[in-house]
Amino acid sequence: ILKLTQKVNYSTAKSILRNKTIKTLLKEDSTNVAVRGWVRSVRKQKQISFATINDGSNLKGIQAILSSEDAEKLTTGACVELHGSLIPSPGREQTKELKVDGLKVLGECDVKRHTTEFLRSIGHLRMRGNTGSAVLRIRNAASEGLRDFFRDQEFIMTNTPILTSHDCEGGGEVFKVSPIDTTNPQEFFKKSVYLTVSGQLHAEITASAMSRVYTFGPVFRAEESLTSRHLAEFWMLEAEIAFIDDLAPLLDVTEASVQQTTRHVLETCGEDLDFFNQWVDKSLLERLHKSVDKPFIRMTYTEAIDVLQKAQSRDKTKFQFPTIWGSSLQSEHERYLASDYCSQPVFVTDYPSELKPFYMRANPDGKTVGCFDLLLPGIGEIVGGSMREERYKVLEQKMKHAKMNMEEYQWYLDLRKYGSAPHGGYGIGFERLLLWFTGLENVREVIPMPRWVGNCKY
Ligand code: 4AD
Repeated sequence: ILKLTQKVNYSTAKSILRNKTIKTLLKEDSTNVAVRGWVRSVRKQKQISFATINDGSNLKGIQAILSSEDAEKLTTGACVELHGSLIPSPGREQTKELKVDGLKVLGECDVKRHTTEFLRSIGHLRMRGNTGSAVLRIRNAASEGLRDFFRDQEFIMTNTPILTSHDCEGGGEVFKVSPIDTTNPQEFFKKSVYLTVSGQLHAEITASAMSRVYTFGPVFRAEESLTSRHLAEFWMLEAEIAFIDDLAPLLDVTEASVQQTTRHVLETCGEDLDFFNQWVDKSLLERLHKSVDKPFIRMTYTEAIDVLQKAQSRDKTKFQFPTIWGSSLQSEHERYLASDYCSQPVFVTDYPSELKPFYMRANPDGKTVGCFDLLLPGIGEIVGGSMREERYKVLEQKMKHAKMNMEEYQWYLDLRKYGSAPHGGYGIGFERLLLWFTGLENVREVIPMPRWVGNCKY
């Protein structure tokens, strides 16, 4: 009898699907193979012709050698199935190429030459290109890296709801949800309901029973700002950890999660990173390696203000926005701190309480809260996190100060009434993390179907 506690060795590496990806075919020794994918390019010559076929499993796809009659049937973008044998390649680009002896066009593609403006407007086809497909592979590897990290650290993956009755961040950037055929938006749930801006408060519920949890899902913000860092729908990895007493262990976990994910991307996406390093940002690999080899820098908000003021006094035109204690750090400040001053990821901690949401834990100085932002060179903020206020009376006071509906948030106060645990957590903006991994400059480039103010195609 097999005991459930006994270890069973299931092999998960064996492929279930009979079709092999180009990436796998190039590693194996099989000779008679079938390749399915999309035509990237065709070079028609008198005697023999060449085509590059890509199925998204690697950057360069595979080179096919075919007769000129067969090549006539191919157009760029067409979906094809090629049969043939894999032979050693004389070129340096790839070890093997496909000598085609049979060809089937699965989906035709009528091509014309297009302008760059037009290409930008057809986002649904951009993954067929090098940049779009490399982004998707890195996106996949980054989410694998995050999941591996949290599993290794004994976190429980949990799912938080998309529909909520509160605005976690208190920023008022919520989308209201209502059934399509009602005149009264409050009819369905008998109250106002929104798309979640963050799973944090719900993750706090689960962490107060399971100790270490994380959630990874889409969040929504009715963000009017048209910047390269803001989307209306983006993905956030949120971790919530019970039994930590101050910021130091929270920063340690944040740093380790970003570094381990970076290592996983470096280990598994070499070809794609080389591509971005060559074409997009020549310092990409250097700064990714540096970020895993050296610890992140840590400074308080008060120290950061001091650094900014010194820079401003050296050059009066340095910043457009004020650098006085109590003012928010603008993206120009964040970029200066991370890129010029530190040239390494930097944690800025302990911001003034007036700048931050109600749930952050008050520091003994009475002016600041135990929180942090992680700023990356060239990007700015990619993570926000804090210790959560676990003291019932202090939290109640903060909620009243923020003029919140106490009845609506009674459950949140209850978590502090029944077995309150010291805890903290953070949220990684996934698309901003991908800017860091790719060197691309706009978050719209790293999510397959971006939504931002004025744009919701598909
Ligand atoms: O700093 P934020 O607002 O933090 C929270 O929502 C916390 N409740 C998270 C937590 O502690 N569980 O957002 C976290 C991160 C930011 O650092 C940023 O990287 C990203 O989410 N972010 C956006 N990314 C794209 N588009 C937007 N409009 C974003 N707003 C925030």
